[in-house]
Amino acid sequence: MYDKKVAIIGMGYVGLSLAAFLGNKVRAIGVDANKNKINSLLSGIPPFYEPKLEYHLKRAIKNGLRFADQINKEIVSSDFVFITVGTPTDSNGKIDLTNMKSALASIAEHMTNLQNKPSIIIKSTVVPGTTMRVIKQILEKNGLRESVDFDLLTNPEFLREGSAMQDTVSPHAIVVGGSNSKSIENLTKFYRTIYKKKQNIVETNNVTAEVIKYANNAFLATKISFINSIANICQKLPGTNVDKIAQIIGMDPRIGNQFLRAGPGYGGSCFPKDVQALISFANDIGYKPILFDAVKNTNSLQVNAVLNLIKHNLRNLTNKKISILGLAFKEDTDDVRESTSIKLVNLLLKHKCNVMVHDPKAIDNTYQMFREKIKYSKSLSDVLTGSDCAVIMTPWENYKYLKEKDFLKMRNPLVIDTRRILKLDNKKILYIGLGIGN
Ligand code: UGA
Repeated sequence: MYDKKVAIIGMGYVGLSLAAFLGNKVRAIGVDANKNKINSLLSGIPPFYEPKLEYHLKRAIKNGLRFADQINKEIVSSDFVFITVGTPTDSNGKIDLTNMKSALASIAEHMTNLQNKPSIIIKSTVVPGTTMRVIKQILEKNGLRESVDFDLLTNPEFLREGSAMQDTVSPHAIVVGGSNSKSIENLTKFYRTIYKKKQNIVETNNVTAEVIKYANNAFLATKISFINSIANICQKLPGTNVDKIAQIIGMDPRIGNQFLRAGPGYGGSCFPKDVQALISFANDIGYKPILFDAVKNTNSLQVNAVLNLIKHNLRNLTNKKISILGLAFKEDTDDVRESTSIKLVNLLLKHKCNVMVHDPKAIDNTYQMFREKIKYSKSLSDVLTGSDCAVIMTPWENYKYLKEKDFLKMRNPLVIDTRRILKLDNKKILYIGLGIGN
């Protein structure tokens, strides 16, 4: 254990993964205002599904990781106080800083008369300028001064749900933004001790760090909307397959082969929110972001590409039994926020379909949204039996092993694979891959 004290405020995907990692390296405490969440964490149970998280969490607890539901003086006097609270979108498409502001107010309240000079580190995604304009002002409320009584750093996070632990343990880059070289060096030194491998650590100012986070997510979202547009073109071009095209253009090092998997559109708690926040921010400062508008609109419309395939092949949708395979916005998570599957279920219900859903992890979260309006199944065999159309939405590993015989239980063996994960003998079933022209 290294002789440093850290506090992590906000036990979501970013904060909890960080706590589970740092708890094995330094004296750490995780804080969240939600008491139920804290109670569950105290017994080593993560409040959401994330591979390997429970293992790291339990190990960290054995090594002394603690939890609290309130910020206090001891917490604020840590060497590093990481802020990882959620910054969702408000009804105007801007980021909602409510959680952030209440955490900061509590930190400010307990920061007076400290013996040490803590580093407050903003890991939550905030629009450019927020750290040095809004956050700094709240922390300086009680006469304390940034750089004198506390340091304020912007340190965006790049982890993905589904591989949150792996990305935390081995990040591709670490961005440290600050207003003075001493505070930047302090955090950089900490990361150099924590990470065994030579991680790329980039030192910059706060606002650049904030822009890097949005640029990163907006670029990845752009790649997905781009390849989805190509997929929609391929759909109308017999003899083409979007995956072949992605594979070859991905060989060009200027393009790169990642994030070129066409599908039903990106979802989750990050891309939709961050692209929207960037659009609102750009408009606010007098720039019309046509490209980002197009990325967002392309994504919102992509669910129609899936619906059209169903309509085209079934013609009349009324009373048809549609089986949705995969509800989570991506594999290896139980998160259904902004999931295209949820949008599709809503559209199918409007068309008076009988919807039956399956997901290895996300059934409970989906039930909270639709209750008795749809049917839920824990077995792949049940979800397919008697169905008129099966739609693969999330590329879960176990779906890849489905064989032609599994679909023969359907009343009408029509399979629409939005991620092209199946390799089926197409004799007795009708297999349609999104982005494959036929
Ligand atoms: C994303 C970024 O990848 C992370 O770097 C970032 O830290 C995170 O947002 C965040 O800002 O917190 P995440 O949303 O967890 O991570 O998951 P991704 O793997 O990026 O997937 C996002 C969506 O894009 C999913 O719906 C996924 O199915 C879709 N996707 C991804 C595609 O449709 N095609 C692809 O090639 C890749």
